[in-house]
Amino acid sequence: MLFAKYWVFLVADTPFKWQKPLENLGIALMRVILLGPPGAGKGTQAQFITEQYSVPQISTGDMLRAAVKAGSALGLEVKGIMASGGLVSDELIISLVKERISHADCERGFLLDGFPRTIPQAQAIIDAGIIIDAVVEIRVEDNEIVSRLSGRRVHEGSGRIYHIHHNPPTTAGMDNETGEPLMQRPDDLEETVRNRLSVYHMQTQPLVQFYTELASSDNIAPKFSTVDGLGLLDDVQARLVAALQ
Ligand code: AP5
Repeated sequence: MLFAKYWVFLVADTPFKWQKPLENLGIALMRVILLGPPGAGKGTQAQFITEQYSVPQISTGDMLRAAVKAGSALGLEVKGIMASGGLVSDELIISLVKERISHADCERGFLLDGFPRTIPQAQAIIDAGIIIDAVVEIRVEDNEIVSRLSGRRVHEGSGRIYHIHHNPPTTAGMDNETGEPLMQRPDDLEETVRNRLSVYHMQTQPLVQFYTELASSDNIAPKFSTVDGLGLLDDVQARLVAALQ
């Protein structure tokens, strides 16, 4: 079992509750990377995983969008790049993530959503000595992505994600928790989505081979798995749980 080295036993019938770590009682370790194209469902599934394992979601996209919204120097620098569907510089993203991982809430682990996205970003994790337990790729074909992203709606304050058909809010256009209006991301326009997909295939997909080779060459490397991202949210969730065991 993937995390068995850190734990004495699992609670029967509650596979998500890990207990009694050997070296640090009471502190669970779960350091996961979710890989996948835009619209694969990384953010949707991250919401579930972070709740179940009580670790923070570190979404570089959410961090950058918050900076754009705040109108900070960082936000002004990345706004145009994000709107076009390109990638912001490795240097900037790497320092952002390293700083975020140093926060106390990451002591029990973290879920990286949208990072790494390039080989230099993946290499930076290794060079910084940051241990990752598992990398899971959520695989979805391009033709499904455009339909998913055109129907995506987001609650800006919390980042909660909906889909007008596949995961609709209780009241159309409104967040289930706050009742506030949902918004459509500017980079979800079809032309931008197609550019994001092409950037994904060129710059991020090579990470699949990178992590596959790493997993087979080094026994402390993260476990690498691929799950099918098509189907009901619960079915994809079950596949992810299986991949993390
Ligand atoms: P980011 O915010 O990370 O966007 P992304 O990776 O393109 O991913 P998305 O958030 O679009 O998709 P997702 O996989 O989370 O899908 P979701 O769960 O929402 O990055 C935005 C930008 O920031 C980048 O373009 C870049 O400019 C910059 N950036 C960020 N990180 C960077 C980095 N490391 N380096 C450089 N630049 C960086 O699901 C999508 C929709 O599908 C939703 O409506 C959902 O309800 C629906 N859905 C989910 N699962 C299913 C299912 N099983 N069936 C049907 N519908 C489903």
